[in-house]
Amino acid sequence: MEVKQVKLISFSPTGTTQKILESIAEGIAVDDVAPINLTLPEGAQQSIPSLSDELVIIGAPVYGGRLPVDAVKRFKRLQASNTLAILVVVYGNREFEDALLELKNLAIALGFNPVAGGAFIGEHSFATADVPIANGRPDSRDVQKARDFGAKIKEKVAVLPSPEAPIDLKIPGGFPYEAEGARTMTVSPVTTEDTCTVCGTCASVCPTAAISINGSVATDIALCIRCCACVKNCPTGARVWEDGMMKKIASWLNENCRTRKEPQIFGIAL
Ligand SMILES: Cc1cc2nc3c(=O)[nH]c(=O)nc-3n(C[C@H](O)[C@H](O)[C@H](O)COP(=O)(O)O)c2cc1C
Ligand code: SF4
Ligand code: SF4
Repeated sequence: MEVKQVKLISFSPTGTTQKILESIAEGIAVDDVAPINLTLPEGAQQSIPSLSDELVIIGAPVYGGRLPVDAVKRFKRLQASNTLAILVVVYGNREFEDALLELKNLAIALGFNPVAGGAFIGEHSFATADVPIANGRPDSRDVQKARDFGAKIKEKVAVLPSPEAPIDLKIPGGFPYEAEGARTMTVSPVTTEDTCTVCGTCASVCPTAAISINGSVATDIALCIRCCACVKNCPTGARVWEDGMMKKIASWLNENCRTRKEPQIFGIAL
């Protein structure tokens, strides 16, 4: 089968997953690449045409060894019919545990036919310049690996007789899932009034509409999923974590996840 169109379906609050999906698409090298980014609150409502006759790359970050609950909610709106799918998770150099297996099981339940999977590394959402955790990733080596993966995907799809060809894709992880997902913590970043220019960027990137701007920045803590999109996108550095537990978690990750992990690919030999 020839790949004529690629759809990139993502949930990616801080953009690392999106970057990996785009790099894989570069490796597949087709002109018709259509992004369906489901990160923002509109993504929860957006009507998505039924997917058929194309190759779909679905990507999400790892939260607590699982998929983010909001990614699952949005992906459940997809309808496929033996649509070939590449599954991608991006994690912050700790572990991806059951997340890729969860994405495979979800994809099959939605009607996709998973061809291959990849677990890539991205700068940890909780990382800062002072407390780095995989800062700057995906870097040029990760991007090259993603492009190589894309080129091999094209070769694998080329020899498939039809989209419904049986593919036995083995993905690590256990079912029932052992990883519990993101911990429930009713906390959110706070705004430093002195440096906040009330530009509204934080509200515009928040996936759960937890932030509202009305002369100043207000956050509905109950809606915050700790994705850190507001922190990483604030142009003045006014959006920060003050919560002691979040600072402890970031320090633990900084100390214990220093050894560089490399992307892992399943269903294709690179
Ligand atoms: C709530 C939360 C939980 C996370 N849990 C994990 C984890 O279990 N393992 C890991 O290595 N990274 C973890 N991360 C880091 C993200 O997976 C990583 O930074 C990823 O690159 C973010 O993707 P994005 O840029 O597409 O948002 C977590 C991040 C958040 C916000
Ligand atoms: S992005 Fe930063 S400067 Fe802009 S409104 Fe939000 S906290 Fe203030
Ligand atoms: S308020 Fe919470 S959910 Fe919204 S962008 Fe910031 S960290 Fe993410």
